[in-house]
Amino acid sequence: MDRVRIGLIGLGRWGDVQLSALSTLPYVDVVAVCSRSEERCRQICKKYGIKKYYLDFQEIIQNAEARAIIVSTEPERHVQPILLALEAGKDVLAEKPLALTLKEVDRIIQKAREKEVIFMVAHTLRFDIRYELLKERIKKGELGKIVSIYSRRNVWKGLFEQHAKHTPMLETGIHEIDLCRWYMEDEVIKVYARKVNVLDPKIADTYWAVLTFSRGGIAVVETSWLLPDGAPTELNSTVEVIGSRGVASIESPAMGMPIWTEKRSEYPDIFFWPVINGHARGTVHRMLEYFTCCVLKGESQKRVCLEDARESVKIALAAVESAEKEREISL
Ligand SMILES: NC(=O)c1ccc[n+]([C@@H]2O[C@H](COP(=O)([O-])OP(=O)(O)OC[C@H]3O[C@@H](n4cnc5c(N)ncnc54)[C@H](OP(=O)(O)O)[C@@H]3O)[C@@H](O)[C@H]2O)c1
Repeated sequence: MDRVRIGLIGLGRWGDVQLSALSTLPYVDVVAVCSRSEERCRQICKKYGIKKYYLDFQEIIQNAEARAIIVSTEPERHVQPILLALEAGKDVLAEKPLALTLKEVDRIIQKAREKEVIFMVAHTLRFDIRYELLKERIKKGELGKIVSIYSRRNVWKGLFEQHAKHTPMLETGIHEIDLCRWYMEDEVIKVYARKVNVLDPKIADTYWAVLTFSRGGIAVVETSWLLPDGAPTELNSTVEVIGSRGVASIESPAMGMPIWTEKRSEYPDIFFWPVINGHARGTVHRMLEYFTCCVLKGESQKRVCLEDARESVKIALAAVESAEKEREISL
């Protein structure tokens, strides 16, 4: 069997989840990982039986003999490793948001086109089995013309400082924005957003954004990092789709497996990255399986095109600007 050799840069919370999912794919070898912390590298190598680590992303890209590089650093540190990996002719899976400015996004897209490698941005919801099923129903026309979408992604407040310090719109809102475009099959022409600061006077933790699409559809994106620690899961998300002939919705946490014990009530995540026997399954697993299969077969990926990644950053930035200026932004 041919094998896919992977190098992964960024060993934070999400890099760890990705490695845990990759460890279930029989044709994948994670040949090296990279973080600036040697202690973290050692810890992760031990956990997953990985033989090599690098403290500098240039070295893993140049020396690790990986076919594909996964970039899972913080959003403000995506651009350089992605550009370097593309320049070296590697296939690349980049975490969202692709970058924090459109100028950087365009540099990356230009390089990816020039190098003709397999390049995908991790817009994970497109790999959630429920969201995919709903997309198929929408495509078949069962709901008629989609006219309205409400999409929410709210997160435990304890995660705010470490994981949303640039802006929640680009960290979590971007998932909902991508979802709205995907379901509406149309382009956003106007954005009006409002924000609230509770946790930090400089960075808003809560946003609502109203998106207007070119054929008249509307969507509301909500993202707030104020979920209390007592919430049953770190993520609370909902999508409600209204069409001219039907409506549909998806709720997370899904009430599929309530567990009640003497001490607490639990509604474990059974879709995003449920951990079974120490390995992450669910959405993250499906996404990594798709990307690594494309690399294995040498086939370009067709699930998240470059324009999707660009548009989602453009709309998220417009929402931030709209909330700052308290006026609607035309795109
Ligand atoms: N698709 C999804 O559903 C999903 C879900 C969660 C997160 N994410 C995305 O995944 C990315 C990572 O998120 P996270 O929560 O894991 O962040 P995190 O916990 O802050 O981890 C970031 C990691 O990157 C490393 N890093 C930073 N600069 C580096 C450099 N120059 N060279 C090597 N390593 C470097 C950091 O370690 P050192 O500072 O020690 O180097 C740290 O290990 C973000 O883009 C986030 O938006 C996506």
